[in-house]
Amino acid sequence: MKKFNISKKDIQNLEMSGPSISKTEINYVLDAVKNGWYGRNKYYYVEKFEKDFAKYHNRKYGLMTPNCTVALHLILHSLGISKGDNVINQECTWVASAAAVKYVGAQNIFADISYDNWCMDENSLIKRINKKTKAVIVSDVYGNLPNMEKIIKICKQNKIYLIEDSAEALGSIYKGKKAGSFGIASAFSFHRTKTLTTGEGGMIVTDNKQFYERCKFLRDQGRNKKQSYLIDELGFKFMPFNLQASLGLAQLNRLKPIIDKKRWIFAKYKNFFSDMKDIQFNKDNKNLYNGCWATTMVIGKRYKINAKKLMSRINNKGLPVRPFFAPIGSMKPFYYSKSKNGNKNSYDIFSRGLTLPSALNLKENQLYYYSSIIKDILKNG
Ligand SMILES: Cc1ncc(COP(=O)(O)O)c(C=O)c1O
Repeated sequence: MKKFNISKKDIQNLEMSGPSISKTEINYVLDAVKNGWYGRNKYYYVEKFEKDFAKYHNRKYGLMTPNCTVALHLILHSLGISKGDNVINQECTWVASAAAVKYVGAQNIFADISYDNWCMDENSLIKRINKKTKAVIVSDVYGNLPNMEKIIKICKQNKIYLIEDSAEALGSIYKGKKAGSFGIASAFSFHRTKTLTTGEGGMIVTDNKQFYERCKFLRDQGRNKKQSYLIDELGFKFMPFNLQASLGLAQLNRLKPIIDKKRWIFAKYKNFFSDMKDIQFNKDNKNLYNGCWATTMVIGKRYKINAKKLMSRINNKGLPVRPFFAPIGSMKPFYYSKSKNGNKNSYDIFSRGLTLPSALNLKENQLYYYSSIIKDILKNG
């Protein structure tokens, strides 16, 4: 294998996440800050970004929001989900989709995740459905997707809404369809740490005109269509603005090289660990082209160390690492909604999973150095 040199500075600058910003982004943002205030320009970048982002996903409509958590909240509220309804989340994902269920006053029910794709397990989903179930939110964690055919079928049979939380799956393609194409609506995040960033930002994409109009109406306070200073219904102030959207549009126009870099990072890690047995990485195969937002590994039981200890050893070397998503039902605000049967896969995968640095400025020597540290711990204890 090639030898790599690494400086102290390269070690210090080795970060978990971060964007790729070029002259294009700077020029778009400069234009927005100079010109994006008057007349027809007031929402120019927002509308262009929404339109182009929806088009990229072969969706009819896009609606930008201040972040993805808000997008999920707005989706549930616009669907009329409220107190007395159940919404099924997967046990391991970022908390946003579960929090959104609480914001509308509905009850969280958690389904287990699958060993195969770390996303919602369809067999567990079936067991969690009852008369109160109104919606299912699947999260495409780490760019993986669940078994969509089965999940779509289950939702149709039971007449429940399917919502896709695609925050981590920009650029993933599942059997020829982009992540963000599934269900009544999909939600994306443009957080500072995401593949495409606007600092903070989110987007809803959908094909349903009526639903889109309803979300748009509620996004801006529920204003009357003709007299915009009168309010017809209690809505939200979830409006985006040109400065964020201009950055988003520039990033969208550079999406190919950005995703190529994410996939390059993923390929390097996989290659550096190719001599190690029993390590599962994000899914990437003929059925799933992974956008590789964050390279994640689940170590096999043969290694006599769990993720918690491994992460502490990595931190002791002055290096960053991030845990796999913790089971949400184990956390305080959600504890009482912990699913009855327990979600064993979720607890097991969490205990063996970790996310590796995937910032867009990472260099090969940093990835090599980082991987060698983990390999040494795994091999020599
Ligand atoms: C799966 C998932 N859903 C939702 C979110 C929430 O995104 P935001 O931070 O834009 O609200 C995130 C971001 O961390 C995420 O990873």
